[in-house]
Amino acid sequence: MADFRLIQVSDPHLSRQKAYFQENWEVFVAAMRADPPDLIVVTGDLCFDAIEQPDDMAFAREQMDRLPVPWLAIPGNHDVGDQWPDLKFKQPVDAAKRRLWMDHFGPDWWVSDHAGWRLVGLNAMLFDSGLPEEAEQWAWLDTALEGRAGRDVLLFVHKPLYLDVPETTADSTLFYAAGTRRRLMDLAQRHAVRAIGSGHLHRRFVDAHHGVQLVWAPSSGFVMGGFPPRLPVGETEVGYVEYRLGDGVLSHHFIRPPAFALNDMSETMARLKSTVNLPPKPWLG
Ligand SMILES: [Fe+2]
Ligand SMILES: [Fe+2]
Repeated sequence: MADFRLIQVSDPHLSRQKAYFQENWEVFVAAMRADPPDLIVVTGDLCFDAIEQPDDMAFAREQMDRLPVPWLAIPGNHDVGDQWPDLKFKQPVDAAKRRLWMDHFGPDWWVSDHAGWRLVGLNAMLFDSGLPEEAEQWAWLDTALEGRAGRDVLLFVHKPLYLDVPETTADSTLFYAAGTRRRLMDLAQRHAVRAIGSGHLHRRFVDAHHGVQLVWAPSSGFVMGGFPPRLPVGETEVGYVEYRLGDGVLSHHFIRPPAFALNDMSETMARLKSTVNLPPKPWLG
């Protein structure tokens, strides 16, 4: 069977008003046009700050529409708000923020079958939100996995399941709570989920947990050198991930186009606490 080439790009943080990372996006669009994959999956933080600047959502959609091949996207915390405990911004996901996403990008959880694989994308910002949609999505996920009809599964969520300690019970905005992590891993092991692709940390890394590969996609936009502090795993790097899917076969590798700027925002993070507090920098196109 001919293999299926999938690009996972994450965390582009796009904005018309605060276009700090648009140059890298231009490089990414050019790379996709030069050598089009079969599909592009975007794993969240498409927007710089849709919570304060709803126009980021419209701009991100315009940018997706420049891609030369089909694409699917799931939301991140900069798109629809964060999950409880939202320790950083106190702007948890809610129905209105989710509605804005769906108005621009359509369903926030989805399934897509290719080359003997079932791709499943989740609105993982709903985990631990307490919203009715959280239970609805879990029920949908059960059905999507039970209906895989022998296909292997590649799952996409915005945040990683954990950093370097799989059993951690810490509350963090960096990864999912212990109960959610266990529930996802139980489902993964029961339903041939071979890999889970995530974003959010702006670091690249591959780990394996109980036979499931955990692929951290870097951001296409920027890094935060030295963040999270003292984390012994992962690499501070920009780029994206290329997967090749065939019958029972999955491989992946990281790509950093030479023209991608590293955009280390660690000084900004130290000074302003977040990139969202940066002053305007309009995209003049
Ligand atoms: Fe991000
Ligand atoms: Fe994020």
